[in-house]
Amino acid sequence: MYELERIKQLKKERKAIILAHNYQRAEVQDVADFVGDSFGLSQKAVTSGAEVIVFCGVDFMAESAAVLNPEKTVLLPELAAQCPMAAMITPLSLRLEREKHPEAAVVCYVNTPASVKAESDICCTSANAIKVVNSLPQNEIIFVPDRNLALYVAAQTDKKIIAWDGYCPTHHLILPGDVLIEKEEHPDAEVLVHPECRPDVTALADKVLSTEGILRYVKQSGSMEFIIGTELGLLHRLNKENPGKKFFAATKYTVCPNMKMNTLASIIRALEKNEHVMSVPEDIRIKAKRALDRMLEAGRGD
Ligand code: 13P
Ligand code: SF4
Repeated sequence: MYELERIKQLKKERKAIILAHNYQRAEVQDVADFVGDSFGLSQKAVTSGAEVIVFCGVDFMAESAAVLNPEKTVLLPELAAQCPMAAMITPLSLRLEREKHPEAAVVCYVNTPASVKAESDICCTSANAIKVVNSLPQNEIIFVPDRNLALYVAAQTDKKIIAWDGYCPTHHLILPGDVLIEKEEHPDAEVLVHPECRPDVTALADKVLSTEGILRYVKQSGSMEFIIGTELGLLHRLNKENPGKKFFAATKYTVCPNMKMNTLASIIRALEKNEHVMSVPEDIRIKAKRALDRMLEAGRGD
């Protein structure tokens, strides 16, 4: 209780809002002003009139908010909350790949550092990856860094996709056998998975969607049971917003330890000590912002 009161007080003092990703701890989601997916959070960071944004997510999300809003203070409560997939590519390695495919456009998943976004033509999220790829005039697309998302997009487009070799260690833990066991136990359930899952898992799904896409789909579906293939934090909103519907995790192992680092105590510390301020060198910020603005202009595709 003390923590909730203190957060309320600090938010008022600092004219701050709290943005939280759908994978955050339940108590962090519950204290946030807005909970969403990478696309929704980027949009909210731009439209909010707050002076300070406490970004409860991982590094690339808070960094993107800072790129888009140089006049606002963006705080990442836990500096160690870093997405391992975003670290699977560097600007230099991307530049070398571009040299090998001079005709290709570069689409980078938002799960990348700003320095990689700065080397890309456009960003995308899981909510608009197919739409973004199809919007480009080029026929060849270098898609970084998530191989699974790249392969999923490749199956939905006529364009030639050159996939990078990165992956999400959390979504990789979902195996086809896990989904098959759940399907056997819940034969009426719809299978909804995130596109960061392996291709042999997405092949078993009824729908492949972003985290917010899963939430939207469930609300309008006539089904009462769902098997969910993504990080377990999503179950909090699924259960809260859909009383009467039942959700079964494809496996209990899909916990992203980085997403779970932010706590109520770290939100308080972030606001009290102004920690950790996200900043990006101006030359990189301007180029990365161009790629992120294009992503936002493309809109959601799910
Ligand atoms: P969403 O944008 O679908 O929420 O996914 C973000 C992410 O990090 C998935 O692992
Ligand atoms: Fe990165 Fe995967 Fe965690 Fe998302 S779930 S933040 S992609 S490690």
